[in-house]
Parts: sequence; C-alpha cells; structure tokens
Amino acid sequence: MSDNDKKQKVLILLGSPRKKGNSAALAREIAEGATSGGAEVESLFIQEMDIKACQACWTCQKSDSKGCAIKDDMQDIFPKLIEADAWVITTPVHWFNMSTQTKLWLDRCFALAKYGKDPFKKKIGIAITYGDTDPFTSGAINAIRSFQDSFKYVGAKIAGIVYGSALEKGEIEKNETVLKAARKLGEKLSRGV
Ligand SMILES: Cc1cc2nc3c(=O)[nH]c(=O)nc-3n(C[C@H](O)[C@H](O)[C@H](O)COP(=O)(O)O)c2cc1C
Repeated sequence: MSDNDKKQKVLILLGSPRKKGNSAALAREIAEGATSGGAEVESLFIQEMDIKACQACWTCQKSDSKGCAIKDDMQDIFPKLIEADAWVITTPVHWFNMSTQTKLWLDRCFALAKYGKDPFKKKIGIAITYGDTDPFTSGAINAIRSFQDSFKYVGAKIAGIVYGSALEKGEIEKNETVLKAARKLGEKLSRGV
C-alpha cells in the first residue's frame, strides 16, 4: 500500500501560548482540511504540556540508549510523532523566530531516532503568524529558514508552509487567503503528498 492509499495520521502541534490565537486558527483550518480529506487528526497544545528544555546530556545518542533521559510529557509525544504520517507545526513569531514552546519541542526531537525506524520519514506542514506586515522584517522568514534547515537535515519533506500577518488575537480570521491556503495544506496532507 502506498502512502497515498492509506488513511493519513496528522499530528498538529500548537506552538503558541494562546490556545485560540492566530496560529491556532491556521491549525484549525489545516485540521479541517485534513479531516475533510479523510485523515485522522490529533492536536497537541504544547503550552499545557510539561516539555522541558533539552539538557544536552547526549544520553539519547548512545548506541545502547533507550531514548530521552528526561521524564516529562515528551515521553508520550514521541510515540505519537513516530506513528504520525504528517506533522504540522504552528507557531507565532516571537522575537524574530519560532516561539519558545515550539523550540523546546523541536530540540527534544533530537532523541526521536531511538523511538522508531525512519523517525523523520514524515510530511511536514508549517503555519506561522506574525505581527509585522512583512514576513522578512517580522522574522517569520527566520522561523521558516530554521524549519527548512532542520527538516532538510533529518530528511523530512516539507509539504507546505502558510504564513500571514496578524497582531491581535483572532485578527487572522480576516485573511481569507491564508485561511484557504491552510485548509488546502490540510487537504494535501490527507492525501499523503
Ligand atoms: C513575546 C512576543 C514576541 C513577539 N515578537 C514578534 C516579532 O518578533 N515579530 C513579529 O512580527 N511579531 C511578533 N509578535 C507578535 C505575534 O507574532 C503575533 O501577534 C502573532 O499573530 C501571534 O500569534 P498567536 O495568536 O498564535 O500567538 C510577538 C508577540 C509576542 C507575545
């Protein structure tokens, strides 16, 4: 069975401290697009989870390693990441890059190799919101570049990136174009492409 025939599992990471903020609105559209395309979708609100910073102990990289030494909620997230066909990372821009919550999660993915075979054989969707009007001066481009470099390094395929300007909570709802693009990205992920 090819990736395109099987029901896709899409795991969405909500990387903003605002549960109903702008990036969460894009996450909602991606989820709706993916669900309408037949995918199984689960969303994780990182802010409410106990995810500690990577301690750079390198325990996870030892040949006989059983995985990450930090016993927190990442231990439940690792199997979900392994099982998913697609990951969607949604984040606001905070200080010219991804949010701290998102970065905490990303750093901890260092240990993922110990939790499954081909741990990064995933399709990646990315959604970013920022307060400035320009993706360059806002720093959104730095976040995009960080994701591009990270996922290239581990060999994961970026299926699509959506981004839009919005400062106040909910402001992104006025941007029909980016909402549509987010929904389309969800549909694409449901097809496993
Ligand atoms: C701590 C903090 C730092 C921010 N830094 C930036 C920034 O560097 N560039 C920018 O354009 N917007 C910045 N913003 C604005 C947010 O990116 C913007 O409001 C975004 O839409 C919030 O998304 P959310 O509702 O999903 O949290 C910052 C907001 C906060 C709270």
